[in-house]
Amino acid sequence: MDSFHINGGRRLEGTIRVNGSKNAALPLMAASLLADDQVRLMDVPDLADIRSMRRLLDELGVEVSSSEPGDEPASLTMKVVDDTASHARYEIVRTMRASICVLGPLLAKRGRARVSMPGGCAIGERPVDLHLRGLEALGASIELESGDVVAEAPGGRLRGATVFLGGAFGSTVLGTANVMSAAVLAEGTSVIESAACEPEVVDLARLLNAMGARISGAGTPRIVIEGVDRLGGAEHTVMPDRIEAGTFMCAAAITNGSLTIENTPVDCMIAVLDRLAALGIEVELLDASDPLRATCRVASGRVLHPIRVTTQPHPGFPTDLQAQLMALLCLADGNSIVTEKVFPERFLHVAELSRMGAQLHRQGATVVVTGVRELRGAPVMASDLRASASLVLAGLAARGTTIVNRVYHLDRGYERLEERLVRLGADIRRVSDSA
Ligand code: UD1
Repeated sequence: MDSFHINGGRRLEGTIRVNGSKNAALPLMAASLLADDQVRLMDVPDLADIRSMRRLLDELGVEVSSSEPGDEPASLTMKVVDDTASHARYEIVRTMRASICVLGPLLAKRGRARVSMPGGCAIGERPVDLHLRGLEALGASIELESGDVVAEAPGGRLRGATVFLGGAFGSTVLGTANVMSAAVLAEGTSVIESAACEPEVVDLARLLNAMGARISGAGTPRIVIEGVDRLGGAEHTVMPDRIEAGTFMCAAAITNGSLTIENTPVDCMIAVLDRLAALGIEVELLDASDPLRATCRVASGRVLHPIRVTTQPHPGFPTDLQAQLMALLCLADGNSIVTEKVFPERFLHVAELSRMGAQLHRQGATVVVTGVRELRGAPVMASDLRASASLVLAGLAARGTTIVNRVYHLDRGYERLEERLVRLGADIRRVSDSA
């Protein structure tokens, strides 16, 4: 397993472009199962999770091909060549929970689906009850057999219905994607109440509408879908990754650096910009003519003010940036308070940051962060993607050498992060086990 060796204390400076969003791309790829023609996606990041989704689609009879190296824009093309399979096997699902997003498209298009039930993961239990409840409301029968969710549409087609998707922790992003993708081919009109408002759901609706679906209200808690008989192909550029953009903003701030960040979806990052401003970090918009693909400059003064932050479903502060922000708060001038309302167990980074000299006190879903003068390099390990990003940020700022072990988690969500950070002046290198 690879690790990162980081010598901290270098200021990051320069220009970096944000890649297409992983969390948008996965359900977009799954939507190709619904199409009678070819779906072409531009700006799909090259990540382990994307490769897992390719493998899964391949098993489900979708031919997936990449554009030739050097082709501009780079794209991924998907075309269904065999629609007989309907089983997403445990071997793939266990490597990537987001495999669940083939459930809705398979059921809608092929009338049946068998998807291995995703297990828990490092950030908590992560049930899929809301996905199943939503699909049942559309008329599907659902059973659990040998750890697989087995779903069938009676007579081969789902029926439009009103579906409530609110849960104890708010709405569900992939649950909304699943139910919306299933309802597009259902007979009649469906309404999703308490739908997730995340921008990735909006991006999926954009692609589905380009394929011929009739979806309105995506991005609000009430999505209305008029079912259609068939969907054709389409071309679509994946939205930029707001979590990657936020991570780069934190990287500029934690190193007292100055970064120009291109392809930033600032329009989807209001809560993030608000909290960074409260910390004293300036995000200057250089070109926001397209607020989904803006260029901004992020610089930080030496003093970071302590803040309070609570993660919430969109448009609140994203849980996927909580760990990275916490690394920054470790160096603020006073006590900050971080509350996690989406995944209350998502604090794997707390013990590891503490190994680097952070002063953190967790009680339930809240962490009090007492700012320290400096972090110190240490060997650390994280078992989830965003926690690993938090440790890389801490390592960039720390005195001495930080070794972040098991970076395969990081590779699931950030494409060649170390190479991109080196270009900005970081001293970071990947060390393989075999080395
Ligand atoms: C997606 C993102 C993930 C992000 C999360 C929340 C992808 C691939 N992943 O995950 O990066 O952290 O949104 O923004 O897009 N819940 C239930 N029952 C369900 C489904 C969810 O109780 O059936 C709970 C979850 O345990 C969690 C909360 O609802 O507490 C939100 O989860 P959800 O929005 O479903 O997360 P994902 O879509 O899996």
